[in-house]
Amino acid sequence: MSVKLPKDLRSFRWYGVDDLRSFGHRSRTKQIGYSVEDFAGKPVIGIINTWSEANPCHIHLRQRAEEVKRGVWQAGGFPIEIPALSPGETMMKPTSMLYRNLLAMEVEELARANPLDGLVLLGGCDKAIPALLMGAASMDLPSIVVPAGPMLRGHWRGDVLGAGSDVWKYWDERRAGKIGATEWGEIEDGIARSFGTCMTMGTASTMAFAAEAMGMTLPGAAAIPAPDSSHARMASASGRCIVDMVWQDRKPSDIVTLAALENAVRTVMACGGSTNAIVHFLALAGRFGLPVDLARLDAISRETPLILNLRPSGKYLMEDLYYAGGSRAVLNRLGPLLALDAITVNGNSLGANVAGAEVLSDDVVKPLDQPMLAEGGLAVLTGNLAPQGAVIKHNSASAHLLTHTGPALVFEDYNDMSARIDDPDLDVTADSVLVLRQAGPLGGPGMPEWGMLPMPKKLLQQGVRDMVRLSDARMSGTSYGTCVLHITPESQLGGPLALVQTGDLIKLDVPARHLDLLVSEEELTARRAAWTPREIIYPRGYGMLYAQHVTQADKGCDFDFLERTAGKVPEPEIH
Ligand code: FES
Repeated sequence: MSVKLPKDLRSFRWYGVDDLRSFGHRSRTKQIGYSVEDFAGKPVIGIINTWSEANPCHIHLRQRAEEVKRGVWQAGGFPIEIPALSPGETMMKPTSMLYRNLLAMEVEELARANPLDGLVLLGGCDKAIPALLMGAASMDLPSIVVPAGPMLRGHWRGDVLGAGSDVWKYWDERRAGKIGATEWGEIEDGIARSFGTCMTMGTASTMAFAAEAMGMTLPGAAAIPAPDSSHARMASASGRCIVDMVWQDRKPSDIVTLAALENAVRTVMACGGSTNAIVHFLALAGRFGLPVDLARLDAISRETPLILNLRPSGKYLMEDLYYAGGSRAVLNRLGPLLALDAITVNGNSLGANVAGAEVLSDDVVKPLDQPMLAEGGLAVLTGNLAPQGAVIKHNSASAHLLTHTGPALVFEDYNDMSARIDDPDLDVTADSVLVLRQAGPLGGPGMPEWGMLPMPKKLLQQGVRDMVRLSDARMSGTSYGTCVLHITPESQLGGPLALVQTGDLIKLDVPARHLDLLVSEEELTARRAAWTPREIIYPRGYGMLYAQHVTQADKGCDFDFLERTAGKVPEPEIH
Protein backbone atom coordinates (compact mmCIF):
# COMPACT_ATOMS: atom_id res chain seq x y z
CA MET A 1 0.00 0.00 0.00
CA SER A 2 1.38 3.38 -1.01
CA VAL A 3 1.28 6.75 0.74
CA LYS A 4 -0.39 9.38 -1.40
CA LEU A 5 0.48 13.03 -1.97
CA PRO A 6 -2.17 15.73 -2.59
CA LYS A 7 -1.51 15.65 -6.34
CA ASP A 8 -2.18 11.88 -6.30
CA LEU A 9 -5.66 12.29 -4.87
CA ARG A 10 -8.48 11.35 -7.21
CA SER A 11 -10.15 14.66 -6.34
CA PHE A 12 -7.14 16.52 -7.75
CA ARG A 13 -8.72 16.00 -11.19
CA TRP A 14 -11.64 18.14 -10.00
CA TYR A 15 -9.98 20.68 -7.74
CA GLY A 16 -6.26 20.82 -8.48
CA VAL A 17 -6.06 21.48 -12.21
CA ASP A 18 -5.85 24.94 -13.80
CA ASP A 19 -8.52 24.63 -16.48
CA LEU A 20 -12.07 25.71 -17.17
CA ARG A 21 -13.77 22.65 -15.68
CA SER A 22 -11.79 22.90 -12.43
CA PHE A 23 -12.70 26.57 -12.22
CA GLY A 24 -16.34 25.42 -12.21
CA HIS A 25 -15.74 22.77 -9.55
CA ARG A 26 -13.93 25.22 -7.26
CA SER A 27 -16.30 28.14 -7.75
CA ARG A 28 -19.35 25.93 -7.15
CA THR A 29 -17.83 24.47 -3.99
CA LYS A 30 -17.29 28.06 -2.81
CA GLN A 31 -20.99 28.62 -3.62
CA ILE A 32 -21.77 26.31 -0.68
CA GLY A 33 -19.75 28.60 1.56
CA TYR A 34 -16.43 26.78 1.64
CA SER A 35 -13.08 28.52 1.10
CA VAL A 36 -10.28 27.05 -0.93
CA GLU A 37 -8.48 26.32 2.36
CA ASP A 38 -11.35 24.01 3.28
CA PHE A 39 -10.84 21.63 0.37
CA ALA A 40 -7.62 22.28 -1.57
CA GLY A 41 -5.20 19.39 -1.36
CA LYS A 42 -7.37 17.50 1.13
CA PRO A 43 -8.90 14.04 0.81
CA VAL A 44 -12.54 14.52 -0.17
CA ILE A 45 -14.66 12.10 1.82
CA GLY A 46 -18.10 11.11 0.57
CA ILE A 47 -20.43 10.31 3.43
CA ILE A 48 -22.96 8.07 1.74
CA ASN A 49 -26.00 8.42 3.98
CA THR A 50 -29.03 6.13 3.80
CA TRP A 51 -31.03 8.31 6.20
CA SER A 52 -34.73 8.44 5.37
CA GLU A 53 -37.99 9.10 7.14
CA ALA A 54 -39.26 5.99 5.36
CA ASN A 55 -36.69 3.97 7.30
CA PRO A 56 -37.08 4.19 11.10
CA CYS A 57 -33.93 2.13 11.66
CA HIS A 58 -31.82 4.92 10.13
CA ILE A 59 -33.52 7.95 11.62
CA HIS A 60 -30.42 8.94 13.62
CA LEU A 61 -28.06 8.83 10.66
CA ARG A 62 -28.49 12.49 9.86
CA GLN A 63 -26.93 13.29 13.24
CA ARG A 64 -24.32 10.55 12.81
CA ALA A 65 -23.25 12.11 9.51
CA GLU A 66 -22.47 15.32 11.42
CA GLU A 67 -20.35 13.31 13.82
CA VAL A 68 -18.51 11.66 10.95
CA LYS A 69 -17.87 15.11 9.46
CA ARG A 70 -16.35 16.25 12.76
CA GLY A 71 -13.84 13.42 12.52
CA VAL A 72 -13.08 14.11 8.85
CA TRP A 73 -12.38 17.80 9.59
CA GLN A 74 -10.23 16.89 12.59
CA ALA A 75 -8.08 14.62 10.44
CA GLY A 76 -7.64 17.18 7.68
CA GLY A 77 -10.18 15.93 5.17
CA PHE A 78 -13.07 17.60 3.40
CA PRO A 79 -16.47 15.88 4.01
CA ILE A 80 -19.34 15.85 1.53
CA GLU A 81 -22.57 14.19 2.63
CA ILE A 82 -24.48 12.49 -0.18
CA PRO A 83 -27.92 10.96 0.36
CA ALA A 84 -28.60 7.54 -1.10
CA LEU A 85 -31.53 5.16 -1.38
CA SER A 86 -32.59 3.81 2.01
CA PRO A 87 -33.59 0.14 1.80
CA GLY A 88 -35.94 0.15 4.77
CA GLU A 89 -37.18 -3.28 5.73
CA THR A 90 -40.32 -2.08 7.44
CA MET A 91 -42.00 -0.31 4.55
CA MET A 92 -40.79 -1.47 1.16
CA LYS A 93 -42.90 -3.85 -0.88
CA PRO A 94 -42.55 -6.52 -2.06
CA THR A 95 -39.15 -6.48 -0.31
CA SER A 96 -36.14 -4.24 0.20
CA MET A 97 -34.05 -7.04 -1.35
CA LEU A 98 -35.37 -5.97 -4.73
CA TYR A 99 -33.47 -2.72 -4.17
CA ARG A 100 -30.21 -4.00 -2.66
CA ASN A 101 -28.57 -4.06 -6.07
CA LEU A 102 -29.95 -0.62 -6.93
CA LEU A 103 -28.30 0.86 -3.83
CA ALA A 104 -25.08 -1.00 -4.65
CA MET A 105 -25.11 0.53 -8.13
CA GLU A 106 -25.92 3.94 -6.67
CA VAL A 107 -22.96 3.82 -4.28
CA GLU A 108 -20.63 2.86 -7.10
CA GLU A 109 -21.91 5.56 -9.44
CA LEU A 110 -22.05 8.30 -6.78
CA ALA A 111 -18.43 7.57 -6.02
CA ARG A 112 -17.47 7.43 -9.67
CA ALA A 113 -19.23 10.65 -10.69
CA ASN A 114 -18.12 12.85 -7.80
CA PRO A 115 -14.72 14.14 -6.65
CA LEU A 116 -14.39 11.55 -3.90
CA ASP A 117 -11.23 10.01 -2.51
CA GLY A 118 -12.83 7.89 0.19
CA LEU A 119 -16.25 6.75 1.41
CA VAL A 120 -17.93 6.54 4.80
CA LEU A 121 -20.93 4.24 4.42
CA LEU A 122 -23.82 4.86 6.82
CA GLY A 123 -26.49 2.19 7.05
CA GLY A 124 -27.67 -0.86 8.90
CA CYS A 125 -31.20 -1.99 8.12
CA ASP A 126 -30.87 -5.45 6.59
CA LYS A 127 -29.92 -4.80 2.95
CA ALA A 128 -28.03 -1.56 3.58
CA ILE A 129 -24.65 -2.92 4.70
CA PRO A 130 -24.48 -5.60 1.99
CA ALA A 131 -25.43 -3.05 -0.67
CA LEU A 132 -22.96 -0.45 0.61
CA LEU A 133 -20.19 -3.06 0.69
CA MET A 134 -21.04 -4.32 -2.80
CA GLY A 135 -20.89 -0.80 -4.23
CA ALA A 136 -17.68 -0.05 -2.36
CA ALA A 137 -16.19 -3.30 -3.61
CA SER A 138 -16.83 -2.40 -7.21
CA MET A 139 -15.56 1.17 -6.97
CA ASP A 140 -12.69 0.12 -4.70
CA LEU A 141 -12.02 3.51 -3.14
CA PRO A 142 -10.91 3.50 0.53
CA SER A 143 -14.14 2.86 2.43
CA ILE A 144 -15.36 2.34 5.99
CA VAL A 145 -18.77 1.18 7.23
CA VAL A 146 -20.55 2.90 10.12
CA PRO A 147 -23.24 0.38 11.15
CA ALA A 148 -26.47 2.05 12.28
CA GLY A 149 -26.40 0.07 15.54
CA PRO A 150 -29.17 -1.88 17.24
CA MET A 151 -32.13 -0.27 19.00
CA LEU A 152 -32.67 -0.66 22.76
CA ARG A 153 -34.52 -3.66 24.21
CA GLY A 154 -38.31 -3.68 23.95
CA HIS A 155 -40.53 -4.15 26.99
CA TRP A 156 -44.02 -5.46 27.67
CA ARG A 157 -45.52 -6.21 31.09
CA GLY A 158 -42.17 -7.21 32.56
CA ASP A 159 -41.11 -9.22 29.52
CA VAL A 160 -38.24 -8.20 27.28
CA LEU A 161 -39.28 -7.93 23.63
CA GLY A 162 -37.06 -8.56 20.62
CA ALA A 163 -38.00 -6.84 17.36
CA GLY A 164 -39.21 -9.27 14.77
CA SER A 165 -38.78 -12.50 16.73
CA ASP A 166 -41.34 -11.60 19.38
CA VAL A 167 -43.72 -10.20 16.78
CA TRP A 168 -43.90 -13.64 15.16
CA LYS A 169 -44.22 -15.34 18.54
CA TYR A 170 -47.01 -13.17 19.90
CA TRP A 171 -48.82 -13.02 16.53
CA ASP A 172 -49.17 -16.82 16.68
CA GLU A 173 -50.49 -16.48 20.24
CA ARG A 174 -52.97 -13.87 19.05
CA ARG A 175 -54.14 -16.09 16.19
CA ALA A 176 -54.45 -18.95 18.67
CA GLY A 177 -56.78 -16.70 20.70
CA LYS A 178 -54.42 -16.29 23.69
CA ILE A 179 -53.72 -12.57 23.33
CA GLY A 180 -56.40 -9.88 22.95
CA ALA A 181 -56.44 -6.53 21.12
CA THR A 182 -55.39 -4.55 24.22
CA GLU A 183 -52.30 -6.66 24.85
CA TRP A 184 -51.47 -6.64 21.16
CA GLY A 185 -51.63 -2.82 21.18
CA GLU A 186 -49.29 -2.70 24.18
CA ILE A 187 -46.80 -4.89 22.36
CA GLU A 188 -47.04 -2.60 19.34
CA ASP A 189 -46.16 0.34 21.60
CA GLY A 190 -43.28 -1.38 23.38
CA ILE A 191 -41.40 -3.43 20.84
CA ALA A 192 -39.54 -0.70 18.93
CA ARG A 193 -38.32 1.54 21.71
CA SER A 194 -35.65 3.65 20.05
CA PHE A 195 -34.04 4.39 16.72
CA GLY A 196 -31.63 1.77 15.40
CA THR A 197 -31.83 -1.63 13.79
CA CYS A 198 -33.56 -4.76 15.09
CA MET A 199 -31.86 -5.72 18.35
CA THR A 200 -32.08 -9.46 17.83
CA MET A 201 -29.47 -11.39 15.83
CA GLY A 202 -31.51 -10.55 12.72
CA THR A 203 -30.04 -9.65 9.38
CA ALA A 204 -28.99 -6.15 10.44
CA SER A 205 -26.94 -7.36 13.43
CA THR A 206 -25.67 -10.27 11.35
CA MET A 207 -24.35 -8.04 8.59
CA ALA A 208 -22.90 -5.52 11.04
CA PHE A 209 -20.94 -8.38 12.63
CA ALA A 210 -19.94 -9.58 9.17
CA ALA A 211 -18.67 -6.12 8.22
CA GLU A 212 -16.59 -5.86 11.39
CA ALA A 213 -15.20 -9.39 11.10
CA MET A 214 -14.16 -8.77 7.49
CA GLY A 215 -12.31 -5.67 8.63
CA MET A 216 -14.56 -2.99 7.16
CA THR A 217 -15.56 -1.20 10.42
CA LEU A 218 -13.69 0.13 13.38
CA PRO A 219 -13.25 -2.43 16.18
CA GLY A 220 -16.35 -2.85 18.31
CA ALA A 221 -18.65 -0.99 15.91
CA ALA A 222 -21.08 -3.85 15.25
CA ALA A 223 -22.76 -4.09 18.64
CA ILE A 224 -22.92 -0.50 19.94
CA PRO A 225 -26.58 0.39 20.58
CA ALA A 226 -27.66 3.19 18.25
CA PRO A 227 -28.63 5.63 21.07
CA ASP A 228 -25.45 5.04 23.10
CA SER A 229 -23.00 7.96 23.11
CA SER A 230 -20.28 5.48 22.09
CA HIS A 231 -22.06 5.21 18.78
CA ALA A 232 -21.54 8.91 18.09
CA ARG A 233 -17.90 8.61 19.11
CA MET A 234 -17.45 5.62 16.81
CA ALA A 235 -18.88 7.72 13.95
CA SER A 236 -16.35 10.51 14.57
CA ALA A 237 -13.51 8.03 14.85
CA SER A 238 -14.60 6.53 11.53
CA GLY A 239 -14.35 10.02 10.02
CA ARG A 240 -10.78 10.33 11.26
CA CYS A 241 -9.94 6.82 10.09
CA ILE A 242 -11.11 7.29 6.51
CA VAL A 243 -8.80 10.27 5.97
CA ASP A 244 -5.84 8.15 7.00
CA MET A 245 -7.10 5.32 4.77
CA VAL A 246 -7.07 7.65 1.77
CA TRP A 247 -3.47 8.77 2.40
CA GLN A 248 -2.46 5.13 2.90
CA ASP A 249 -4.54 4.04 -0.13
CA ARG A 250 -6.08 1.24 1.94
CA LYS A 251 -8.89 -0.06 -0.25
CA PRO A 252 -11.64 -2.70 0.13
CA SER A 253 -9.72 -5.06 -2.17
CA ASP A 254 -6.74 -4.82 0.24
CA ILE A 255 -8.97 -5.66 3.22
CA VAL A 256 -11.57 -8.14 1.98
CA THR A 257 -9.31 -11.04 1.06
CA LEU A 258 -10.48 -14.65 1.09
CA ALA A 259 -9.29 -14.97 4.71
CA ALA A 260 -11.22 -11.84 5.71
CA LEU A 261 -14.42 -12.95 3.99
CA GLU A 262 -14.14 -16.35 5.64
CA ASN A 263 -13.60 -14.63 9.00
CA ALA A 264 -16.94 -12.92 8.39
CA VAL A 265 -18.67 -16.16 7.44
CA ARG A 266 -17.28 -17.96 10.50
CA THR A 267 -18.33 -15.15 12.79
CA VAL A 268 -21.87 -15.17 11.43
CA MET A 269 -22.09 -18.93 11.92
CA ALA A 270 -20.85 -18.58 15.50
CA CYS A 271 -23.40 -15.83 16.13
CA GLY A 272 -26.40 -17.82 14.86
CA GLY A 273 -26.78 -15.17 12.17
CA SER A 274 -29.45 -14.73 9.55
CA THR A 275 -29.91 -16.97 6.51
CA ASN A 276 -29.89 -13.76 4.48
CA ALA A 277 -26.16 -13.53 5.11
CA ILE A 278 -25.68 -16.52 2.81
CA VAL A 279 -27.05 -14.61 -0.17
CA HIS A 280 -25.07 -11.49 0.72
CA PHE A 281 -21.81 -13.42 1.21
CA LEU A 282 -22.22 -15.03 -2.20
CA ALA A 283 -22.84 -11.62 -3.78
CA LEU A 284 -19.79 -10.16 -2.03
CA ALA A 285 -17.68 -13.14 -3.08
CA GLY A 286 -18.78 -12.39 -6.63
CA ARG A 287 -17.89 -8.70 -6.35
CA PHE A 288 -14.49 -9.41 -4.81
CA GLY A 289 -13.79 -12.37 -7.11
CA LEU A 290 -13.30 -14.74 -4.17
CA PRO A 291 -13.93 -18.49 -4.37
CA VAL A 292 -16.68 -18.83 -1.75
CA ASP A 293 -19.69 -20.93 -2.71
CA LEU A 294 -22.56 -22.68 -0.91
CA ALA A 295 -20.48 -25.79 -0.25
CA ARG A 296 -17.74 -23.71 1.40
CA LEU A 297 -20.29 -21.84 3.52
CA ASP A 298 -21.72 -25.16 4.73
CA ALA A 299 -18.24 -26.50 5.49
CA ILE A 300 -17.42 -23.44 7.60
CA SER A 301 -20.73 -23.76 9.43
CA ARG A 302 -20.09 -27.41 10.25
CA GLU A 303 -16.73 -26.63 11.90
CA THR A 304 -17.81 -23.51 13.83
CA PRO A 305 -19.52 -23.71 17.24
CA LEU A 306 -22.50 -21.47 17.85
CA ILE A 307 -21.58 -19.38 20.89
CA LEU A 308 -23.96 -16.40 20.96
CA ASN A 309 -27.07 -16.79 23.09
CA LEU A 310 -29.17 -14.21 21.23
CA ARG A 311 -32.71 -14.30 19.87
CA PRO A 312 -34.11 -15.75 17.72
CA SER A 313 -32.06 -18.86 18.51
CA GLY A 314 -31.21 -17.90 22.08
CA LYS A 315 -32.30 -15.70 24.95
CA TYR A 316 -30.64 -12.29 24.90
CA LEU A 317 -30.60 -9.14 22.76
CA MET A 318 -27.89 -6.96 21.25
CA GLU A 319 -27.98 -4.52 24.16
CA ASP A 320 -27.16 -7.42 26.49
CA LEU A 321 -24.30 -8.40 24.21
CA TYR A 322 -22.92 -4.86 24.33
CA TYR A 323 -22.86 -4.96 28.14
CA ALA A 324 -21.29 -8.44 27.96
CA GLY A 325 -18.27 -7.10 26.09
CA GLY A 326 -19.61 -6.38 22.61
CA SER A 327 -18.35 -7.52 19.27
CA ARG A 328 -14.64 -7.26 20.13
CA ALA A 329 -15.14 -9.75 22.95
CA VAL A 330 -16.97 -12.13 20.61
CA LEU A 331 -14.23 -11.90 17.99
CA ASN A 332 -11.54 -12.32 20.63
CA ARG A 333 -13.26 -15.46 21.92
CA LEU A 334 -13.49 -16.77 18.35
CA GLY A 335 -9.81 -15.92 17.85
CA PRO A 336 -8.54 -19.52 17.62
CA LEU A 337 -10.87 -20.06 14.65
CA LEU A 338 -10.13 -16.82 12.79
CA ALA A 339 -7.35 -15.55 10.53
CA LEU A 340 -6.22 -12.91 13.01
CA ASP A 341 -3.58 -11.45 10.72
CA ALA A 342 -6.22 -10.13 8.31
CA ILE A 343 -5.83 -6.37 7.93
CA THR A 344 -8.68 -3.99 8.80
CA VAL A 345 -9.71 -0.40 8.03
CA ASN A 346 -7.51 1.12 10.71
CA GLY A 347 -4.42 -0.65 9.37
CA ASN A 348 -4.22 -2.98 12.34
CA SER A 349 -4.78 -6.70 12.11
CA LEU A 350 -8.06 -8.15 13.34
CA GLY A 351 -6.08 -9.83 16.11
CA ALA A 352 -4.60 -6.53 17.30
CA ASN A 353 -8.03 -4.90 17.25
CA VAL A 354 -9.64 -7.47 19.51
CA ALA A 355 -6.71 -8.35 21.76
CA GLY A 356 -7.61 -8.17 25.44
CA ALA A 357 -11.36 -7.77 24.88
CA GLU A 358 -13.06 -9.66 27.67
CA VAL A 359 -16.35 -11.53 27.66
CA LEU A 360 -18.21 -10.33 30.77
CA SER A 361 -21.00 -12.90 30.68
CA ASP A 362 -20.47 -16.51 29.66
CA ASP A 363 -24.22 -16.88 29.47
CA VAL A 364 -24.47 -14.33 26.65
CA VAL A 365 -21.27 -15.39 24.86
CA LYS A 366 -20.68 -19.05 25.53
CA PRO A 367 -17.15 -20.46 25.88
CA LEU A 368 -15.90 -22.24 22.75
CA ASP A 369 -15.88 -25.57 24.60
CA GLN A 370 -19.43 -25.12 25.96
CA PRO A 371 -21.28 -23.75 22.92
CA MET A 372 -25.01 -23.44 22.35
CA LEU A 373 -24.52 -25.88 19.47
CA ALA A 374 -21.44 -27.77 18.36
CA GLU A 375 -21.77 -26.41 14.84
CA GLY A 376 -22.89 -23.18 13.20
CA GLY A 377 -26.52 -22.24 12.83
CA LEU A 378 -26.91 -22.45 9.06
CA ALA A 379 -26.93 -25.53 6.84
CA VAL A 380 -26.93 -25.92 3.07
CA LEU A 381 -29.13 -28.68 1.66
CA THR A 382 -29.15 -30.29 -1.75
CA GLY A 383 -31.21 -33.04 -3.34
CA ASN A 384 -33.61 -33.54 -6.22
CA LEU A 385 -35.83 -30.77 -4.85
CA ALA A 386 -32.95 -28.29 -4.62
CA PRO A 387 -30.31 -29.26 -7.20
CA GLN A 388 -28.45 -25.95 -6.76
CA GLY A 389 -29.01 -25.73 -3.04
CA ALA A 390 -31.31 -24.58 -0.26
CA VAL A 391 -30.68 -23.17 3.20
CA ILE A 392 -32.04 -23.84 6.69
CA LYS A 393 -31.34 -22.12 9.97
CA HIS A 394 -31.37 -25.32 11.95
CA ASN A 395 -30.45 -23.74 15.27
CA SER A 396 -33.85 -22.05 15.35
CA ALA A 397 -35.77 -25.05 13.98
CA SER A 398 -37.48 -27.79 15.99
CA ALA A 399 -35.10 -30.67 16.70
CA HIS A 400 -37.79 -33.29 16.06
CA LEU A 401 -38.43 -31.93 12.56
CA LEU A 402 -34.84 -31.87 11.33
CA THR A 403 -35.40 -35.37 9.98
CA HIS A 404 -38.93 -35.57 8.65
CA THR A 405 -40.95 -37.05 5.81
CA GLY A 406 -44.45 -35.73 5.17
CA PRO A 407 -47.03 -34.97 2.50
CA ALA A 408 -46.79 -31.66 0.65
CA LEU A 409 -49.47 -29.01 0.90
CA VAL A 410 -48.77 -26.65 -2.00
CA PHE A 411 -49.60 -22.95 -2.23
CA GLU A 412 -49.19 -21.52 -5.72
CA ASP A 413 -48.16 -18.08 -4.47
CA TYR A 414 -48.40 -15.72 -1.50
CA ASN A 415 -52.00 -14.72 -2.27
CA ASP A 416 -53.10 -18.34 -2.49
CA MET A 417 -51.44 -19.01 0.86
CA SER A 418 -53.00 -15.95 2.53
CA ALA A 419 -56.45 -16.92 1.26
CA ARG A 420 -56.32 -20.52 2.51
CA ILE A 421 -53.95 -20.79 5.46
CA ASP A 422 -56.59 -20.10 8.10
CA ASP A 423 -59.38 -22.07 6.41
CA PRO A 424 -60.83 -24.41 9.05
CA ASP A 425 -61.27 -27.00 6.29
CA LEU A 426 -57.62 -26.86 5.19
CA ASP A 427 -56.43 -30.46 4.78
CA VAL A 428 -53.36 -30.15 6.98
CA THR A 429 -51.78 -31.96 9.92
CA ALA A 430 -48.64 -31.35 11.95
CA ASP A 431 -46.88 -33.81 9.63
CA SER A 432 -47.71 -31.87 6.46
CA VAL A 433 -44.97 -30.00 4.64
CA LEU A 434 -46.12 -26.54 3.58
CA VAL A 435 -44.78 -25.52 0.16
CA LEU A 436 -44.82 -21.96 -1.19
CA ARG A 437 -44.00 -21.17 -4.81
CA GLN A 438 -43.40 -17.89 -6.68
CA ALA A 439 -41.26 -16.33 -3.98
CA GLY A 440 -37.77 -16.46 -5.51
CA PRO A 441 -35.58 -13.73 -7.03
CA LEU A 442 -37.77 -13.58 -10.17
CA GLY A 443 -41.03 -14.98 -8.86
CA GLY A 444 -41.40 -12.70 -5.80
CA PRO A 445 -39.83 -10.68 -7.28
CA GLY A 446 -36.84 -9.98 -5.07
CA MET A 447 -37.10 -13.13 -2.93
CA PRO A 448 -39.37 -11.62 -0.28
CA GLU A 449 -39.15 -12.75 3.34
CA TRP A 450 -42.15 -15.04 3.06
CA GLY A 451 -40.26 -18.21 3.93
CA MET A 452 -41.53 -18.44 7.51
CA LEU A 453 -44.98 -19.41 6.23
CA PRO A 454 -47.64 -18.74 8.86
CA MET A 455 -48.75 -21.75 10.82
CA PRO A 456 -52.30 -22.82 9.85
CA LYS A 457 -54.73 -21.46 12.43
CA LYS A 458 -56.35 -24.83 13.05
CA LEU A 459 -52.95 -26.27 14.02
CA LEU A 460 -52.17 -23.30 16.27
CA GLN A 461 -55.44 -23.93 18.07
CA GLN A 462 -54.35 -27.55 18.54
CA GLY A 463 -51.14 -26.31 20.18
CA VAL A 464 -48.82 -26.98 17.23
CA ARG A 465 -46.17 -24.23 16.92
CA ASP A 466 -43.83 -25.50 14.19
CA MET A 467 -43.89 -27.62 11.05
CA VAL A 468 -41.70 -28.12 7.99
CA ARG A 469 -42.10 -25.29 5.50
CA LEU A 470 -40.38 -24.99 2.11
CA SER A 471 -40.03 -22.16 -0.37
CA ASP A 472 -37.75 -20.31 -2.76
CA ALA A 473 -38.21 -17.24 -0.51
CA ARG A 474 -35.91 -15.84 2.15
CA MET A 475 -37.02 -15.25 5.71
CA SER A 476 -36.31 -12.47 8.14
CA GLY A 477 -33.23 -12.95 10.26
CA THR A 478 -35.54 -12.50 13.24
CA SER A 479 -37.69 -15.47 12.16
CA TYR A 480 -37.51 -19.04 13.38
CA GLY A 481 -39.04 -22.43 12.72
CA THR A 482 -38.27 -25.39 10.49
CA CYS A 483 -38.21 -23.37 7.29
CA VAL A 484 -36.20 -24.48 4.26
CA LEU A 485 -35.40 -21.42 2.18
CA HIS A 486 -33.69 -20.22 -1.02
CA ILE A 487 -34.61 -23.39 -2.95
CA THR A 488 -32.68 -23.12 -6.21
CA PRO A 489 -33.46 -23.05 -9.06
CA GLU A 490 -36.61 -21.18 -8.14
CA SER A 491 -40.14 -22.16 -9.17
CA GLN A 492 -40.48 -19.25 -11.62
CA LEU A 493 -37.70 -20.87 -13.65
CA GLY A 494 -39.31 -24.31 -13.54
CA GLY A 495 -37.06 -25.66 -10.79
CA PRO A 496 -38.30 -28.88 -9.12
CA LEU A 497 -40.25 -26.77 -6.60
CA ALA A 498 -42.58 -25.86 -9.50
CA LEU A 499 -43.37 -29.55 -10.00
CA VAL A 500 -44.43 -30.48 -6.47
CA GLN A 501 -48.09 -31.49 -6.10
CA THR A 502 -50.15 -31.60 -2.92
CA GLY A 503 -49.83 -35.06 -1.42
CA ASP A 504 -46.31 -35.77 -2.76
CA LEU A 505 -43.99 -37.00 -0.05
CA ILE A 506 -41.06 -34.73 0.81
CA LYS A 507 -38.08 -35.89 2.83
CA LEU A 508 -35.99 -33.45 4.85
CA ASP A 509 -32.76 -34.73 6.40
CA VAL A 510 -30.74 -31.85 7.84
CA PRO A 511 -27.96 -33.99 9.41
CA ALA A 512 -27.34 -35.53 5.95
CA ARG A 513 -27.96 -32.13 4.27
CA HIS A 514 -30.65 -33.56 1.97
CA LEU A 515 -33.97 -32.33 0.64
CA ASP A 516 -35.81 -34.70 -1.67
CA LEU A 517 -39.12 -35.04 -3.44
CA LEU A 518 -40.08 -38.71 -3.31
CA VAL A 519 -41.53 -38.82 -6.79
CA SER A 520 -40.14 -40.93 -9.66
CA GLU A 521 -37.96 -39.30 -12.30
CA GLU A 522 -40.42 -40.43 -15.02
CA GLU A 523 -43.28 -38.64 -13.29
CA LEU A 524 -41.18 -35.49 -12.78
CA THR A 525 -40.20 -35.53 -16.47
CA ALA A 526 -43.87 -35.68 -17.45
CA ARG A 527 -44.76 -32.82 -15.07
CA ARG A 528 -41.85 -30.76 -16.40
CA ALA A 529 -43.05 -31.20 -19.99
CA ALA A 530 -46.49 -29.92 -19.01
CA TRP A 531 -45.19 -26.95 -16.97
CA THR A 532 -45.49 -23.35 -18.23
CA PRO A 533 -43.91 -20.27 -16.57
CA ARG A 534 -45.85 -17.31 -15.28
CA GLU A 535 -45.32 -13.93 -16.81
CA ILE A 536 -42.77 -11.72 -15.01
CA ILE A 537 -44.75 -8.95 -13.37
CA TYR A 538 -42.44 -5.96 -14.00
CA PRO A 539 -42.74 -4.92 -17.66
CA ARG A 540 -40.64 -1.75 -17.38
CA GLY A 541 -38.04 0.28 -15.54
CA TYR A 542 -35.79 -0.99 -12.78
CA GLY A 543 -37.92 -4.10 -12.28
CA MET A 544 -37.32 -5.11 -15.89
CA LEU A 545 -33.58 -4.56 -15.54
CA TYR A 546 -33.70 -6.65 -12.38
CA ALA A 547 -35.61 -9.47 -14.06
CA GLN A 548 -33.21 -9.55 -16.99
CA HIS A 549 -30.03 -9.68 -14.94
CA VAL A 550 -30.57 -11.02 -11.42
CA THR A 551 -28.75 -14.26 -10.63
CA GLN A 552 -30.20 -17.11 -8.60
CA ALA A 553 -29.76 -17.41 -4.83
CA ASP A 554 -26.74 -19.71 -5.13
CA LYS A 555 -24.91 -16.87 -6.87
CA GLY A 556 -26.05 -14.15 -4.46
CA CYS A 557 -28.87 -12.54 -6.50
CA ASP A 558 -26.46 -9.92 -7.81
CA PHE A 559 -26.73 -8.58 -11.34
CA ASP A 560 -24.68 -10.66 -13.74
CA PHE A 561 -23.00 -7.57 -15.18
CA LEU A 562 -21.72 -6.41 -11.76
CA GLU A 563 -19.91 -9.54 -10.58
CA ARG A 564 -16.15 -9.77 -10.19
CA THR A 565 -15.27 -6.13 -10.48
CA ALA A 566 -13.41 -5.20 -7.30
CA GLY A 567 -10.05 -3.72 -8.08
CA LYS A 568 -10.03 -5.41 -11.47
CA VAL A 569 -11.78 -2.96 -13.75
CA PRO A 570 -9.84 0.30 -14.23
CA GLU A 571 -11.86 3.44 -13.66
CA PRO A 572 -12.87 4.90 -17.04
CA GLU A 573 -11.24 8.23 -17.99
CA ILE A 574 -14.20 10.61 -17.77
CA HIS A 575 -13.77 14.35 -18.32
FE1 FES B 1 -34.58 -2.35 10.02
FE2 FES B 1 -34.96 -4.82 11.27
S1 FES B 1 -36.40 -3.54 10.25
S2 FES B 1 -33.16 -3.68 10.95
